[in-house]
Amino acid sequence: MSNKAYLEIGGERYEFPVITGTENESAVDIKTLRASTKIVTIDPGYKNTGSCESAITFLNGEKGILRYRGYAIEELAKHADFLEVAYLLIFGELPNGEQLEKFLSDIRKESHVDEEMKKIIDAFPRTAHPMGVLSSMTSALIAFNPSSVNVSSEEAMYHAIVRILAKFPVLVAWTMRKVMGLPREYGDNSLGYVENIHKMMFRHPHEEYRKDDLAIEALDQLLILHADHEQNCSTSTVRIVGSSHAGLFASLSAGISALWGPLHGGANQAVLEMLEAINEDGGDTAKYMAKAKDKSDPFRLMGFGHRVYKNFDPRAKIIKKAADSLLDDLGIEDPILDIAKGLEKEALEDPYFVDRKLYPNVDFYSGIIYRALGIPVEMFTVMFALGRLPGWIAQWREMRLRNEPIGRPRQIYIGANERPFVPIKKRK
Ligand code: ACO
Repeated sequence: MSNKAYLEIGGERYEFPVITGTENESAVDIKTLRASTKIVTIDPGYKNTGSCESAITFLNGEKGILRYRGYAIEELAKHADFLEVAYLLIFGELPNGEQLEKFLSDIRKESHVDEEMKKIIDAFPRTAHPMGVLSSMTSALIAFNPSSVNVSSEEAMYHAIVRILAKFPVLVAWTMRKVMGLPREYGDNSLGYVENIHKMMFRHPHEEYRKDDLAIEALDQLLILHADHEQNCSTSTVRIVGSSHAGLFASLSAGISALWGPLHGGANQAVLEMLEAINEDGGDTAKYMAKAKDKSDPFRLMGFGHRVYKNFDPRAKIIKKAADSLLDDLGIEDPILDIAKGLEKEALEDPYFVDRKLYPNVDFYSGIIYRALGIPVEMFTVMFALGRLPGWIAQWREMRLRNEPIGRPRQIYIGANERPFVPIKKRK
C-alpha cells in the first residue's frame, strides 16, 4: 500500500502520510488536516478513527484474533495465571519467577483499605447497583491515597499501580458482601492473588475458608479473558480522562461507569436476565429470536454482536467450553445453559444474524459461569471490571509514558446561528 494519501477539497490537493502498524494495519495520519485545510473529520462512534498508537493488544475482528503483547489469548488462558497476564499487559513482557514474586509482594504491602472506607460503603443503600458503588469507592480511594494522583515518574506510577491492584479486589469483595449482607473483611496475604480474591468474596463468617480449586481456576481464566480489549468504550474513557492528568484512580472510576452500560460490560448481567426471562416464559427461543429481528421491537439478543468481531469472538469460544466443563465438574444442570446453546444454534443458522455477522460475544456465556460460582447477577459487571483492571492500567500507563496530548475531539455545530437575546417578558 502507498504510504501517502491524497485529499482533494475545493480544487486543492493535500497529501497525508499513511502509517502502518506491526500487523500491517494502515491509517491515514491526519494530524495536520485542520491546520492545512481548515476542515475536520466527523465519525460518530469512532467507527473509523484510531485514537492512538498502542503496543498492548492486537485484535483482528474479521479473523477472530486476540493477542495481548503478541501472545494469543488461547495460549494465555491455558497456560498463564491472571497476575502474570496483568504484569504482561502493564509492563510488556511475561515476568520471570523473581519479577512475579516481587510484583505480588509489592501488591501485598498495599492490600489494606482504610477502615473509614467501610463507612462510605455502609452508607449506600443495600439496593444500590454494585457498579455504582464500585465506581464511587474507587473514586473515594483518592482521598485516602492523595500521593497516587500526581504521578509523572515511572516509579510514582508503579506505586499507584500496585496500590490499586491491591485495593481494588478488596472493594470488589466488599461490594459483593454488601449485596449478600456479609461483613466487610480483609484477605490473606499468604494466598495467591486470585485465591485471595476468592476468599475475600466467599468466606462465610462462621466457617473456615476452604480452597476451591475448580472455582479459582474458572475465575482466573475469566479474568484473563476480560483483561484487555484495546480501545473499547471503557478503555477509551480511561485514556481520555487520564489525558487530563486527573490520575489513575479517577480515570479507572470513569472507566467503571463506562463499562456499566448494557451495550458494553453491562451486557453480561443483561444476558443472564434475558435467559432467565426466556426460561420463565416457557423456554420459547423462537419467540425471542423473532423479537430480536423485529425492527419495531427494541429487544436485542443480548450477548450477540460486536463492534469489532465480525467472524467470532475468540473469548466466547473459550468461555463456552469452560462453562460446559465447569457445570459438568460441579454436577450442575442449568436450563439456562441449554437455552443459551439453543439461541446460539438458531442465530448461527438465521440469515438475519448471519448477514449482519452477529456472533456470541464474551458476555454470552460468562454469566453462566459466574452464576455457577455463586456470584449474584448484579455483580457480573463488577467481575468484568476486576478482569479489565490490568488492561485499563496498561492503557493509562502507555498513554502517560507516550506523553499523549489531552483528548479533545472537534465537532460540527448544527445549532442556531447568532441571534439577539430576548428578555423574558418578550419570549413567547
Ligand atoms: N440483536 C439483534 N440485532 C442486532 C444485535 C443484537 N444483539 N446487534 C446488532 N444488531 C443489528 C442492528 O439492529 C443492526 O441492524 P440493521 O443493519 O438492520 O440496522 C446491525 O445488526 C448492526 O448493529 P449496530 O448496532 O449498528 O452495530 P454496532 O457495531 O454499533 O453495535 C453492539 C455493536 C453494541 C455490541 C450491538 O451488537 C449490540 O447492541 N449487542 C447487544 C449488546 C451486547 O451484547 N453488548 C456487549 C458487547 S461486548 C462488550 O462490550 C464486552
